[in-house]
Amino acid sequence: MTRVTQVKSGKSERWTAPKIRALKGKERIAVITAYDYPTAVVADRAGVEVILVGDSLGMVVLGYDSTLPVTVDEMIHHTKAVKRAQPRALVVTDLPFMSYQTGPVEALANAGRLVKEGGADAVKLEGGERAAEAVRIMVEAGIPVMGHIGLTPQSVLQFGGYRVQGRGEEAAERLLADAQALEHAGIFSLVLEGMPADLSARVTRGIGVPTIGIGAGACCDGQVLVWHDALGFSFGHQPKFVRKYADLAENTAAGLARFVDDVKQGRFPTAEESYE
Ligand code: KIV
Repeated sequence: MTRVTQVKSGKSERWTAPKIRALKGKERIAVITAYDYPTAVVADRAGVEVILVGDSLGMVVLGYDSTLPVTVDEMIHHTKAVKRAQPRALVVTDLPFMSYQTGPVEALANAGRLVKEGGADAVKLEGGERAAEAVRIMVEAGIPVMGHIGLTPQSVLQFGGYRVQGRGEEAAERLLADAQALEHAGIFSLVLEGMPADLSARVTRGIGVPTIGIGAGACCDGQVLVWHDALGFSFGHQPKFVRKYADLAENTAAGLARFVDDVKQGRFPTAEESYE
């Protein structure tokens, strides 16, 4: 039975980190963020292999202007909601800013909380060679880890904005070395964010685990988008790599405007919508 017929017949099994890793070179991987029960139900029905409980929730759900204020407790809260949907998809949860940069011991403790308390199937952290030791310790403890390099949003202050990374040969070589260091440390996949397409193609060829691109061109082994960007439910500037697959904000506002109007005009509820 192919994976597609498995999905259609509802007989599919749950995705695991080793199964995602094994997709490299065989099938492109679709990843979407989700942060609560209904978004996880719908994402899973759509057939994504991975649901990412990204710390982007700080911006698209909690209204912060960066991911920096997000806490481990918030990540656990949202991961629990996603897991209640019992998705087939692998649920990967972000380690938020300052939950792992302070050292491998604290990194392991916080990754452990995301798994034990949140129910995450795997964790993701940002950074290359400097994150490799933390990755190694988590993997040795039995926690699957997804890496994330390039335009890593937790480094926005250091970058001076959300700027494409890896331009020029020296920067490109550094990112390639970062990817290889993370692979050696044991990651099962790697997010490549905000980098030139030819560099992401080099990284994808240069490592044995799948790369998941966002703003990194078409040559990655998979692609990830933030739910609210992909479905037209985020506000403000949209980067050029975002493709809008629906306009939820527009449709939702129009639906709610009809509700308001019906209430004002006494058209809601009708007798059929009332109890005798
Ligand atoms: O937090 C997030 O949503 C992410 C993706 C953009 C990769 O890290």
